[in-house]
Amino acid sequence: MPREALQQYAVVAARAAQQVGARLVRFAGRPNTVSTKRSAIDLVTDIDRSSEQTIHRILRRAFPDFGFLGEERGERYQPRPYRWIVDPIDGTNNFVHGVPLFGVSIGLEHRGTMVIGVIYDPMRRELFVGIKGHGAFLNGKRIHASKTRTLAHSLVSTGFSSNFLKNPRPYWQWFREFQRRSHGVRRIGTTVLSLAWVAAGRLEGFYERDLWPWDMAAGIVLVQEAGGMVTNFQGKPPILIDGRLIASNRHIHREMLRLIRSAGTTR
Ligand code: IPD
Ligand code: CA
Ligand code: CA
Repeated sequence: MPREALQQYAVVAARAAQQVGARLVRFAGRPNTVSTKRSAIDLVTDIDRSSEQTIHRILRRAFPDFGFLGEERGERYQPRPYRWIVDPIDGTNNFVHGVPLFGVSIGLEHRGTMVIGVIYDPMRRELFVGIKGHGAFLNGKRIHASKTRTLAHSLVSTGFSSNFLKNPRPYWQWFREFQRRSHGVRRIGTTVLSLAWVAAGRLEGFYERDLWPWDMAAGIVLVQEAGGMVTNFQGKPPILIDGRLIASNRHIHREMLRLIRSAGTTR
């Protein structure tokens, strides 16, 4: 895939993420409306919706032939070779409470493969960009996954999805075992920043089940381009609809897979 084209897609996606991000900073902790979606802990605000609209408008204007899947409005067009996959605010719960941990995530898929991943942390003004075949970057500087070789020396992150209340057992089992066998488990309330931080070498690993395509899309290419590894709980390439994701610096991946398999159900 020509580098120039990919770079152009990434530049426009980054512009959209930064434009929306600036507004998120203004409204963090004070959205106009808050309501629930699939469960009592699955929140959505007017800012989630308007942000997705803004991103859609910018991307659509620049690339009118591309498909678009967003968390708030779903699939907008018939599948095309290229499809944007967008989470306008990942970490809405944090955003509502004014906890400064949330991100804007824009991924670009080409015939089932993630080729661009843009994740923007507006509170820290950190822009993470992954371009398939050309590397991963934080504010323009190349980033790499960590070189730590064992889970025992690793810091890991996870999340509890909105499905957690329906079947909490595996979440607790995994949390307990990872906490026991690593430097600790962080639960920062945002999947996309967890994945960006694995790419940046701040965390060695991340795992979660019951994720949505927009939680994973951009982070997948970012972690891969930083030299990390991303699979489902079976160790196979991630499929966006599978919802189960392990991301790592690559070195601890097998240990993570083994622990996920032994400590809880993988289904
Ligand atoms: C959620 C966050 C959270 C994760 C959930 C996601 P949202 O996304 O990433 O950390 O545990 O599974 O659904 O709802 O804030 O976009
Ligand atoms: Ca999300
Ligand atoms: Ca969201």
